[in-house]
Amino acid sequence: KPSLPEFHLEDVALHNNKERGVWVTYKDGVYDVTDFLEMHPGGASRLMLAAGGAIDPFWAMYQQHNQEEIRSLLEGYRIGTL
Ligand code: HEM
Repeated sequence: KPSLPEFHLEDVALHNNKERGVWVTYKDGVYDVTDFLEMHPGGASRLMLAAGGAIDPFWAMYQQHNQEEIRSLLEGYRIGTL
Protein backbone atom coordinates (compact mmCIF):
# COMPACT_ATOMS: atom_id res chain seq x y z
CA LYS A 1 0.00 0.00 0.00
CA PRO A 2 2.12 2.89 -1.31
CA SER A 3 -0.20 5.56 0.20
CA LEU A 4 0.68 4.51 3.75
CA PRO A 5 3.75 5.91 5.55
CA GLU A 6 6.94 3.89 5.85
CA PHE A 7 8.35 3.02 9.24
CA HIS A 8 11.70 1.66 10.39
CA LEU A 9 11.96 -1.34 12.70
CA GLU A 10 13.26 1.09 15.35
CA ASP A 11 9.98 3.08 15.19
CA VAL A 12 8.02 -0.11 15.71
CA ALA A 13 10.26 -1.28 18.56
CA LEU A 14 9.54 1.96 20.48
CA HIS A 15 5.82 1.10 20.49
CA ASN A 16 5.88 -1.79 22.88
CA ASN A 17 3.56 -0.58 25.63
CA LYS A 18 0.08 0.82 26.13
CA GLU A 19 1.37 4.33 26.89
CA ARG A 20 3.12 4.76 23.54
CA GLY A 21 0.83 2.34 21.75
CA VAL A 22 1.31 -1.29 20.84
CA TRP A 23 2.59 -1.79 17.30
CA VAL A 24 3.42 -5.06 15.61
CA THR A 25 4.61 -6.09 12.16
CA TYR A 26 3.37 -8.90 9.93
CA LYS A 27 5.44 -9.46 6.78
CA ASP A 28 6.08 -5.83 5.66
CA GLY A 29 2.94 -4.41 7.27
CA VAL A 30 2.93 -2.20 10.39
CA TYR A 31 -0.11 -2.35 12.68
CA ASP A 32 -1.26 -0.38 15.71
CA VAL A 33 -3.13 -3.02 17.69
CA THR A 34 -3.51 -1.02 20.93
CA ASP A 35 -7.30 -1.07 20.65
CA PHE A 36 -7.33 -4.79 19.88
CA LEU A 37 -5.28 -5.89 22.90
CA GLU A 38 -8.19 -6.48 25.24
CA MET A 39 -10.23 -8.15 22.48
CA HIS A 40 -7.60 -10.76 21.61
CA PRO A 41 -9.10 -14.24 22.12
CA GLY A 42 -5.64 -15.49 23.13
CA GLY A 43 -5.36 -12.79 25.80
CA ALA A 44 -3.65 -9.40 25.98
CA SER A 45 -0.56 -10.82 27.66
CA ARG A 46 0.14 -13.22 24.79
CA LEU A 47 -0.24 -10.41 22.27
CA MET A 48 2.15 -8.30 24.36
CA LEU A 49 4.87 -10.91 23.76
CA ALA A 50 5.00 -9.56 20.20
CA ALA A 51 4.65 -5.86 21.12
CA GLY A 52 7.11 -3.72 19.18
CA GLY A 53 8.09 -6.56 16.89
CA ALA A 54 7.03 -9.24 14.46
CA ILE A 55 4.05 -11.49 15.01
CA ASP A 56 5.15 -13.82 12.19
CA PRO A 57 7.01 -16.31 14.42
CA PHE A 58 4.09 -16.42 16.87
CA TRP A 59 1.55 -16.97 14.12
CA ALA A 60 3.78 -19.75 12.75
CA MET A 61 3.56 -21.38 16.18
CA TYR A 62 -0.16 -20.74 16.71
CA GLN A 63 -1.51 -21.75 13.31
CA GLN A 64 -5.12 -20.94 14.18
CA HIS A 65 -4.25 -17.42 12.96
CA ASN A 66 -3.74 -18.71 9.45
CA GLN A 67 -7.19 -17.69 8.18
CA GLU A 68 -8.28 -15.02 5.72
CA GLU A 69 -10.70 -13.63 8.33
CA ILE A 70 -7.90 -12.99 10.81
CA ARG A 71 -5.58 -11.53 8.19
CA SER A 72 -8.30 -9.04 7.22
CA LEU A 73 -9.01 -8.26 10.89
CA LEU A 74 -5.31 -7.40 11.25
CA GLU A 75 -5.37 -5.35 8.03
CA GLY A 76 -7.98 -3.12 9.68
CA TYR A 77 -5.31 -1.94 12.13
CA ARG A 78 -2.71 -1.17 9.47
CA ILE A 79 -0.87 2.15 9.82
CA GLY A 80 2.00 1.68 7.41
CA THR A 81 4.70 -0.36 5.75
CA LEU A 82 8.26 -1.24 6.73
C1 HEM B 1 -6.44 -16.72 19.11
C2 HEM B 1 -5.96 -12.65 16.57
C3 HEM B 1 -1.37 -12.25 18.10
C4 HEM B 1 -1.81 -16.41 20.51
C5 HEM B 1 -6.70 -15.66 18.27
C6 HEM B 1 -7.95 -15.45 17.57
C7 HEM B 1 -7.83 -14.29 16.88
C8 HEM B 1 -6.49 -13.79 17.12
C9 HEM B 1 -8.88 -13.62 15.99
C10 HEM B 1 -9.17 -16.39 17.59
C11 HEM B 1 -8.89 -17.52 16.63
C12 HEM B 1 -10.01 -18.53 16.56
O1 HEM B 1 -10.56 -18.88 17.60
O2 HEM B 1 -10.30 -19.00 15.44
C13 HEM B 1 -4.68 -12.18 16.77
C14 HEM B 1 -4.17 -10.94 16.23
C15 HEM B 1 -2.87 -10.82 16.67
C16 HEM B 1 -2.58 -11.99 17.49
C17 HEM B 1 -4.93 -10.00 15.31
C18 HEM B 1 -1.87 -9.72 16.43
C19 HEM B 1 -2.21 -8.45 16.35
C20 HEM B 1 -1.07 -13.35 18.85
C21 HEM B 1 0.22 -13.64 19.44
C22 HEM B 1 0.09 -14.83 20.11
C23 HEM B 1 -1.27 -15.28 19.95
C24 HEM B 1 1.46 -12.76 19.30
C25 HEM B 1 1.09 -15.62 20.89
C26 HEM B 1 2.15 -15.14 21.49
C27 HEM B 1 -3.11 -16.84 20.38
C28 HEM B 1 -3.65 -18.05 20.98
C29 HEM B 1 -4.99 -18.12 20.58
C30 HEM B 1 -5.24 -16.98 19.73
C31 HEM B 1 -2.90 -19.01 21.88
C32 HEM B 1 -6.01 -19.20 20.95
C33 HEM B 1 -6.81 -18.75 22.14
C34 HEM B 1 -7.87 -19.74 22.51
O3 HEM B 1 -8.53 -20.28 21.59
O4 HEM B 1 -8.03 -20.00 23.69
N1 HEM B 1 -5.83 -14.65 17.97
N2 HEM B 1 -3.71 -12.79 17.52
N3 HEM B 1 -1.94 -14.35 19.18
N4 HEM B 1 -4.10 -16.22 19.63
FE1 HEM B 1 -3.91 -14.52 18.59
